[in-house]
Amino acid sequence: MDRFRIEGPTPLRGTVRASGAKNAALPALAATLLTDEEVRLRRVPRVRDIATLRRLLAHLGQGSIEGGAERLHLAPAGAASPDDAPYELVKTMRASVLVLGPLLARRGHARVSLPGGCAIGVRPIDQHVAGLEALGARVALDHGYVDVTAPRLSGCRFRFATVTVTGTENLLMAAVLADGTTVLENCAREPEVSDLARLLVAMGAEIEGIGEATLIVHGVEALHGAEHAVIADRIEAGTYLLGAALTGGDVLVEDLRPEDLGALLELLAETGAEVSLEGGGVRARRAGALRSRDAETAPFPGFPTDLQAQYMALMTQAEGVSTICETVFENRFQHAAELARMGAEIRLDGRFARVHGPRRLSGATVMATDLRASASLVLAALAAEGTTWVERIYHLDRGYERMEEKLRALGGRVERVAGEETSPGATAPGEGGTR
Ligand code: UD1
Repeated sequence: MDRFRIEGPTPLRGTVRASGAKNAALPALAATLLTDEEVRLRRVPRVRDIATLRRLLAHLGQGSIEGGAERLHLAPAGAASPDDAPYELVKTMRASVLVLGPLLARRGHARVSLPGGCAIGVRPIDQHVAGLEALGARVALDHGYVDVTAPRLSGCRFRFATVTVTGTENLLMAAVLADGTTVLENCAREPEVSDLARLLVAMGAEIEGIGEATLIVHGVEALHGAEHAVIADRIEAGTYLLGAALTGGDVLVEDLRPEDLGALLELLAETGAEVSLEGGGVRARRAGALRSRDAETAPFPGFPTDLQAQYMALMTQAEGVSTICETVFENRFQHAAELARMGAEIRLDGRFARVHGPRRLSGATVMATDLRASASLVLAALAAEGTTWVERIYHLDRGYERMEEKLRALGGRVERVAGEETSPGATAPGEGGTR
């Protein structure tokens, strides 16, 4: 099991390019199940979640070949293929549920293992299921699997009771091949949902309202091949910008759309960091003291839950008390206890975390518990005095492309060490985050 050894404190300085968004590339890969023709995707990040979905797609009969740097070409490999997503694959990545909609639309049947609980609260898929039922599918739950059947899907009006990103994506992928028109209300408006919608349109789908809460889908007979560039990873970019502010550094993240990061950039500026748009990217730097600012997570365009942990690391160095409210997921404060081991003072109360700053951080052995929590520990380690070991960084590898290389290029002293944990007897709280 790999871990990071990080020597701090070091300011992050320099320029880094954002990778393609993991959360946009995943639904794009799933969408390739909707056609027999080749789909060419550019800017696909080389992260473990993508490798996991490629394994699942291969099981489903979808071949993928590397088309050069960051490029993937996907097309059916021929021969009849299974239409099930087995537990072994789904348990490591909840986003495997994204094959449900396209498989059902294309093959009339899908059987996907229920993702189950994970380190970040209870995460049901009831809205995916209710939406597919509204489109005419018969849904059965048995032996831990959701089994959906529909020889034909029919357009419908469906309102999501909860804003769900992958739920919206699943329904969109099912509706594009349904008979007639589907109106989806209270949809997630995340940039990754819009990116999927744009790919589907390039494949021949008819979708109105992209980027809005109501999506109108006019079903078509078939989709065709297309070429599509995945958007930049706003969460990865936000992580490096927060790192610049936290370490008193100066980082330009290139090749991304600043509008995708709106809520973070506003908040960063309020904390005293200087934020500017430069040459197709965003630059954040800090010379003076940081101010505490409250933050509340919310669906897009609100402040993203996927940056909450990294923002908490920043607030450990700000003057005053910052209240962070997590409204999207329950139980998403597992990084707080690990940050406290490095010297942070954080009081938890249900959905609220109160961070008292500034506190001197010192290196310690800490345990990554999920993807974004790991990133917050890495940022804190860069600002802490001495050596920090971040254990179980396989969580990081799920969603950050070459993080240690990128950090080293920015001056961070980060080394990947293979092998045994420093404290082999330790168990991670809520081990097994599947985000
Ligand atoms: C996606 C992202 C994840 C991000 C999250 C919220 C991907 C692959 N992952 O996850 O990184 O943190 O959006 O921005 O894109 N819910 C229900 N019923 C459902 C579905 C969801 O109650 O059927 C609840 C969840 O428990 C959660 C909230 O809705 O409290 C939001 O979850 P959702 O948007 O579905 O998250 P994911 O799509 O799994």
